[in-house]
Amino acid sequence: MSDEPRTSPTVRTAAVIPAAGRGVRLGPGAPKALRPLSGTPMLIHAVRAMAASRAVRMVVVVAPPDGAPEVRALLDEHSFPERTTITVVPGGETRQESVALGLRALPADITSVLVHDAARPLVPVDTVDAVVDAVRDGAPAVVPALPLADTVKQVEPDPRGGPEKVVGTPERALLRAVQTPQGFDRATLVRAHETVAPDGEGATDDAGMVERLGVPVVCVPGHEEAFKVTRPLDLVLAEAVLARRRATDGF
Ligand code: CTP
Ligand code: MG
Repeated sequence: MSDEPRTSPTVRTAAVIPAAGRGVRLGPGAPKALRPLSGTPMLIHAVRAMAASRAVRMVVVVAPPDGAPEVRALLDEHSFPERTTITVVPGGETRQESVALGLRALPADITSVLVHDAARPLVPVDTVDAVVDAVRDGAPAVVPALPLADTVKQVEPDPRGGPEKVVGTPERALLRAVQTPQGFDRATLVRAHETVAPDGEGATDDAGMVERLGVPVVCVPGHEEAFKVTRPLDLVLAEAVLARRRATDGF
């Protein structure tokens, strides 16, 4: 018995990596996906994390709108498994637009899609494979998810920035924090992107768009190393995870 995902002649999987964000919460500097982690740009770690899954035959990187040539050059400087084709397209103003632009670059024979944030560079391959397997087993939409450490309050934001009124406390045991890669039947995800209109800053979660179609979404176990690099402290944590990997498996 092998732990590798079952290969299937009919399911062909690609990964779309939205990497077009600026990284405002990380502070001033290069676009977030291009900032280094232990000397290697975050995006390179993220592409390697997807390409590590034998099921993933293609990766579409969605670059900052004016940064596609630079991202292409960066990818060409690094090595990836030979089986993986890597394409670069320019992204949009919101994550939702960037993912939609990435989906348009998929060849016709791709039947299932992973959408993975460049900002989650350290997701382990076992988590990627768990999502791939659940989609192959017939789930139209799959998200890796973890229970929450903190209790969550719903609030009424105060327009003047004063104390916010608490309006509810959902039962923590029923909540999950969702990560990426999220996996989808291609046609379902494309339909969600074609029919769910962006509201405000657009959807930050593809599975949420699929839910709005009334299509069931399921969770599989996420992983603490799949955290999103969002604020400066997350860079410290990411470098610590890489140092631990180097120490334990000569990564
Ligand atoms: N993303 C994207 N296109 C956008 C905005 C975001 O492709 N217009 C991508 C980011 O590059 C990131 C992922 O979506 O890989 C998750 O977004 P987030 O963590 O919010 O990254 P940023 O939008 O770059 O960060 P911030 O919100 O702090 O500016
Ligand atoms: Mg953002």
